[in-house]
Amino acid sequence: MNTLRVALDGPAGAGKSTVAKRVAAALGVAYVDTGAMYRAITWKALQKGIELHDEVALTELADSIHIDFKPRSVGQAVFVDGEEVTDAIRSFDVTNNVSAVSAVSGVRVAMVKLQQDIAARTGVLMDGRDIGTVVLPNADVKIWLTASVEARAQRRYQELLGKGIACDFEQIKEDIQRRDDYDASREHSPMVKADDAVVVDTTGMSIDEVIAQIETICHSAQAQK
Ligand code: DC
Repeated sequence: MNTLRVALDGPAGAGKSTVAKRVAAALGVAYVDTGAMYRAITWKALQKGIELHDEVALTELADSIHIDFKPRSVGQAVFVDGEEVTDAIRSFDVTNNVSAVSAVSGVRVAMVKLQQDIAARTGVLMDGRDIGTVVLPNADVKIWLTASVEARAQRRYQELLGKGIACDFEQIKEDIQRRDDYDASREHSPMVKADDAVVVDTTGMSIDEVIAQIETICHSAQAQK
């Protein structure tokens, strides 16, 4: 088993999860989608009718929730307390509320602990916002994956249209910008590039080009390990 530990951070819509899944498979390390963990808590909180400003209740939820990932032929399935939520955690309702939930300090402490426990057991590629700064500050590779707001909104727009979901481009762009601002300005572990992260700007690049570039970075880190 490859023991490489890779931190892949960056704003929403830069292509992190698509790239992460394929690079993790190519390297032979586990893939952990940390955004899915914050989404899972948000989904459960909405189900239980927890007030999203109730930090005590959200922290209790984060301390008791069971989140499992199960590999699928394409990507992975996500389970919360035994119930499959793979699609449910991508709903508009969850997407619009996840920034608020992920800003709660107790929620972050619980998730960071789970993420560090996973990385202590296996080689891993983790994608998120604070992996290179907080979760794995000693990662072998740190990448900051980004793209212009325009390019990220365009990808999301095409993805939704491809699924037959009616949507408004300007609205998507505004939502992405708002989420970036919120994630970057929160008090607890805000979204910020680690000083030693390599920046990969995917604006105008194909997914295959991005993957090739990141694999090259990972292979050279592995050769020096
Ligand atoms: O990557 P994503 O869009 O699925 O992430 C969902 C939200 O969770 C996003 O608004 C930022 C937050 N998040 C975070 O605060 N820290 C992480 N490590 C991963 C995601």
